[in-house]
Amino acid sequence: MDNNFNQMWNQQEYVARYNQVYPLLDQDCQLYCDLLQIKMDDHLLDLGCGEGYFVKKLLEMGIKKITVVDVSGEQLLRLREKLTPQEEQKLTIIEGDFESISFPQEQVTKVFARASLHHLDQLKKRLFFQKLKSVTKKSALFLLHDMVFDFPKEELNQQMPRLLQEASVHYGDRWILKKEDIIATWFDEFPEDFKTWISVCKEGGLELVGRKRITSFLSILLFSKI
Ligand SMILES: C[S@@+](CC[C@H](N)C(=O)[O-])C[C@H]1O[C@@H](n2cnc3c(N)ncnc32)[C@H](O)[C@@H]1O
Repeated sequence: MDNNFNQMWNQQEYVARYNQVYPLLDQDCQLYCDLLQIKMDDHLLDLGCGEGYFVKKLLEMGIKKITVVDVSGEQLLRLREKLTPQEEQKLTIIEGDFESISFPQEQVTKVFARASLHHLDQLKKRLFFQKLKSVTKKSALFLLHDMVFDFPKEELNQQMPRLLQEASVHYGDRWILKKEDIIATWFDEFPEDFKTWISVCKEGGLELVGRKRITSFLSILLFSKI
């Protein structure tokens, strides 16, 4: 189903600004590879791959297969432009909304989702994870890098003074560029508290195996498929 968020992700200017202000760095990719224990015979699923910086890195490393999902034709165009013909052959692109897409039959061994699943409200997340369940192999690893509140989400208003202070220290010079987006993500999109993410991921048969807490509003969570 189309909505305002999806329309935003199809605007050239919006996408260009996002990719410039929130680039993925090589050191982030290295951390994700380590945590996901990436091997070259993995089949990785990237949910909300954006312009595909991580995907391109993995293809250059020689990974066997990647499937990506993204609702943004704009982002996928940027990804396609980066690929060699050989890399394209290893990639399956699903252009569409998490809500309505169907996955191919084949099961994946690794799943990666950075800053994408908070676009779904809690009910849609639950339905999406139920759909994801059949696509992941037993023991598949799933890495979620997203807004994860350390406190119950209902306390967001109360926590604001502390969060703003913490965010300004965390983002440093770049806070001024990001402040408006980050606050909009907290209030207008659907980040969850730690407990809710765990419960939502459980719908996909996923059990928490690790957590790297970055701030009281950001974490990397690692799950394994039971
Ligand atoms: C904040 S960006 C993150 C992109 C990339 N994962 C990264 O870390 O740079 C969110 C991505 O999720 C995609 N997205 C947002 N809502 C979506 C939805 N409902 N279904 C599929 N993709 C969605 C956007 O098009 C965008 O590329």
